Amino acid sequence: MLTWEQLILACEGCQLCELGKLRNNIVIGRGNIKAPVMFIGEGPGEQEDLKGEPFVGAAGQLLDVLLEALAFKPEDYYIANVVKCRPPNNRVPTDSEAENCLPYLRNQVALIRPKIIVCLGSTAARYVISKEIKITQIRGQWHEQKGCWIMPTFHPAALLRDSTKKVLLFKDIKNVKLKMAEIL
Ligand code: URA
Repeated sequence: MLTWEQLILACEGCQLCELGKLRNNIVIGRGNIKAPVMFIGEGPGEQEDLKGEPFVGAAGQLLDVLLEALAFKPEDYYIANVVKCRPPNNRVPTDSEAENCLPYLRNQVALIRPKIIVCLGSTAARYVISKEIKITQIRGQWHEQKGCWIMPTFHPAALLRDSTKKVLLFKDIKNVKLKMAEIL
């Protein structure tokens, strides 16, 4: 397992896949590295690639509003993605891109040791829970892996396309808040 310093250096020098050649910035994560809750998205978009931080574009603003509405404090969470470089035109990362990048995410999880992981959308849920899942079928249901509670839910960007998902995402994140009160 790498330390944070080693992990950041490894990510910054990473050229394991083609995405490395295209990036402006590597997007490792943001938030409290000792947080009890970790949110995992898919991969950086345009704004994230420009700033080097996850969830700072439109989807990130929606997530921030949601977390604020549910009284999450900044120290409660850390946010990262399955892949750390922006896929062109925000396409879904390929299986080999995701598999190449996953050791970095696993290393982040091992360093943070969150009590709760929230998978934002299908890509995160597939690589964290199981490749067989369908997000519409498993969202909102707790999974437990090695003492860590995992909540799969919709990606905030999905709300920008389909507002009916808003109620469900809100409900799932509210359940995360309840779980925090229960276990922390
Ligand atoms: N969507 C993601 O999945 N991650 C980001 O960092 C931004 C948008």
